[in-house]
Amino acid sequence: MILPVYLYGSPVLRRKASEISSDYKGLKEFISDMFETMYHSEGIGLAAPQVGRSDRIFIVDASPLESEEEPELKDLKKVFINPEIVSYEEDSSVYVEGCLSVPEIREEVERKSRIRIRYYDENFNFHDEYYEGYAARIIQHEYDHLQGRLFTDLISPIKRRLLRGKLNSISRGKVEVNYKVKTPR
Ligand code: NI
Repeated sequence: MILPVYLYGSPVLRRKASEISSDYKGLKEFISDMFETMYHSEGIGLAAPQVGRSDRIFIVDASPLESEEEPELKDLKKVFINPEIVSYEEDSSVYVEGCLSVPEIREEVERKSRIRIRYYDENFNFHDEYYEGYAARIIQHEYDHLQGRLFTDLISPIKRRLLRGKLNSISRGKVEVNYKVKTPR
């Protein structure tokens, strides 16, 4: 089932999400709905708060971004439950990002180049892994959603000021997107 994507201005996007347990009701169905919603809206990642649930779970499928430089993206189709980024590398990079909850805005964001993350998959198996490059960027973006943070928080204050009108329009639902959305007011 395709779920509506909550837009910028929705309180759920600003809450710190809660950990979930292995007996979370309807987990398999929820994960399948998240993938369906993400593919429908042509995203490469989706976090539970973006579909209105303040729970620590996000999904990614970066396979469309596979390239010669980053062939490993082909295999980055995963579910992250109760994730914890335990370390970041000093180095960082700048690249343009967008977000299904903040449509029509794309801005450069600085992110750490390499991270170590611990999480559970959809079967509640534990993982402790390193990611770098674009994979690390996507994961940090989705992880931020669980912390109540959006990529627009990370751009320069000047750029943010310039975007204020646009962000206000989004929060009033004045956007044209071809996926289902839920406006805050
Ligand atoms: Ni996002």
